[in-house]
Amino acid sequence: MNTSVMPAVSEQQILEIINRFQGKPGALLGILETVQESNPHKYLPEETLQLIAKHTGTPLSRIYSLTTFYSFFNLQPQGEHIILVCRGTACHTRGSRVLLEDLSCLLDCSAFLESGENTFTTKDKKFTIKTVACFGQCALAPVVSIDGVIYSRMTSARLKGIIEKLAKGGKKHE
Ligand code: FES
Repeated sequence: MNTSVMPAVSEQQILEIINRFQGKPGALLGILETVQESNPHKYLPEETLQLIAKHTGTPLSRIYSLTTFYSFFNLQPQGEHIILVCRGTACHTRGSRVLLEDLSCLLDCSAFLESGENTFTTKDKKFTIKTVACFGQCALAPVVSIDGVIYSRMTSARLKGIIEKLAKGGKKHE
């Protein structure tokens, strides 16, 4: 019996997803991405990776190397809201560090900033903060993505307003 606290994608669902990708180019990446999206916490638990390895006939080591190479794969449960802060040179110069400090105050995660880690999820699983290398929109720095929506020239006041709204269960965007 699966005693994992977090709900996972069932073996049956995984088999259906694998069948959907049969014979398609890049099938393994597509399978991993679709299975991750099907997980309520948008991640790939160990038992899920083992099932994908077993049913695709892929060595588990290959699955691990793919999921650790591509930053869009998550091996830990993600928060309800995902905040990506660009730490590239242009964004850094135009204040992304201040935005990260704002987030660390708002979400009580100052240890994250000092740890050098590039991801943090709040205890209540409401928010995940990640830093990224560059969104490719350097002219619009500093750039932040919240739940897939890109915000250019982000300011502390705007970020605070969005986070407070989301924390209260409000709609995602202004
Ligand atoms: S450095 Fe931030 S978008 Fe390029």
